[in-house]
Amino acid sequence: MYALTVNGQHVESDENRRLIDFLRDDLRLTSVKNGCGEGACGTCMVLIDGRASKACVWQLKDLGGKNIITVEGLNSREKEVYPYAFASAGAVQCGFCIPGMVISAKGLIDSVPDPVPEQVRDAIKNNICRCTGYKKIEEAILLAAKMFRGNIPVPDCRFTGALGESMPRIDAAAKVLGIAEYAADKHIEGMLYGSALRTAYPRAVIKSIDTSEAKALPGVVGVFTAADLPGKQKTGHIVKDWDVLIPAGKCTHYIGDALALLAAETHEILEKAKKLIKVEYEVLKPLTCPAESLAEGAPLVHANGNIVSREHLIRGDAEAVTAKSRHVVTNHYSLPFTEHAFLEPETAVALIEDGDVVRINSGDQGVYQTLKECSEALGLPHNKVRVTAETVGGGFGGKVDMSVQHHAAILAYLTKRPVKFSLSRAESLRVHPKRHAMEIDMTTACDENGNLTAMKAVIISDAGAYASVSAPVLQRVCIHAAGPYNIRI
Ligand code: FES
Ligand code: FES
Repeated sequence: MYALTVNGQHVESDENRRLIDFLRDDLRLTSVKNGCGEGACGTCMVLIDGRASKACVWQLKDLGGKNIITVEGLNSREKEVYPYAFASAGAVQCGFCIPGMVISAKGLIDSVPDPVPEQVRDAIKNNICRCTGYKKIEEAILLAAKMFRGNIPVPDCRFTGALGESMPRIDAAAKVLGIAEYAADKHIEGMLYGSALRTAYPRAVIKSIDTSEAKALPGVVGVFTAADLPGKQKTGHIVKDWDVLIPAGKCTHYIGDALALLAAETHEILEKAKKLIKVEYEVLKPLTCPAESLAEGAPLVHANGNIVSREHLIRGDAEAVTAKSRHVVTNHYSLPFTEHAFLEPETAVALIEDGDVVRINSGDQGVYQTLKECSEALGLPHNKVRVTAETVGGGFGGKVDMSVQHHAAILAYLTKRPVKFSLSRAESLRVHPKRHAMEIDMTTACDENGNLTAMKAVIISDAGAYASVSAPVLQRVCIHAAGPYNIRI
């Protein structure tokens, strides 16, 4: 038996668990966000005996008799001041990091009522924010400290919505207080946990998938392969090239490819079951860059070839103007893949409602696209699928594709139970496409006064394994390649 105090209440657990899981899953204190689960991001910050600490790195066995405070446990004055200070400083965007920031702020202000900016920066040095940046958060914390010190009342803010009026975000208070609901915060009675077994190799022919042992594990409700899919085998926004599951006999395209879907009563059973699936691979050498995939005789990534799209944007005669320009600079630029690094890993919760409608609650970037692609993956008409956009903990373009939505929907449809399907941070990094890596040869010319006269860029963009939105991205790259400059032609 493990006993501790959480927000003033004595609580107990029969089993030793991670503090974050105990707080979120057992006590439903969902202000404690799980951004990484491994001590890197600070979204799970709680006060332990007054000190800010990450709930994902603590086990209940090490916390006997400790006093834990989460944002839900703030007093009523704090529940007014922190939302006001963060909202009026413009310190809340996606909000996923903010409850953790508030806890770090409280840890500081409780012991240092009049902090200087350096102390605020030090207090939040273990909290990552991907969208707001730290300056406004620092200002919010300094404002909160000032209001507590001076016992300053929270102003009664009323807004008319008039043009030019400075208004805080309407969702700021809910995000600060941890009551804005992100998909992973949803809990439905009887809910299963879903996950996918992913390939061990980026390029391999799947010879066979044996799910029998996983299916036999008590607590496992379903294990499904491509042969069980109710709808289309492939998905994709523009090009339908992305396998919902890689079928036996076919080849994987990247390390995020899913081979089987599982649903189980608990996280722990789910992870155990994944290890019981046996996959036989014929491992092949992967193509890791455009140079390899464009080489003579390169294996085909997809049946229709290795080029997703070509764009030509021509205005004037760049070569002729360059030839008579006073100065010419030619450079090669290599841009790496860029991870979007949103703080909220992908989650969708799906269930059956009204007898035969699949409801998907998802924190992605477009409900209509999710509806369309999930309908196809389920083999259902659009009126049998409903999608609700939950609060999004950052996306930046990295949540436009199907990652968890279709898998959650398929599991709910096949098991007839609600299913929460969340990616761990490691899976999230592995699964969603990155901002494109590019190789760019660029020549820029100017006259004797430095006025730009011509520019020519040859750009090879690395789409990775699947088309996703590569074609429109390439269009925009071409449009913006010359920058915001006035080129005299
Ligand atoms: S530090 Fe705990 S979830 Fe990231
Ligand atoms: S507001 Fe900080 S991560 Fe989005």
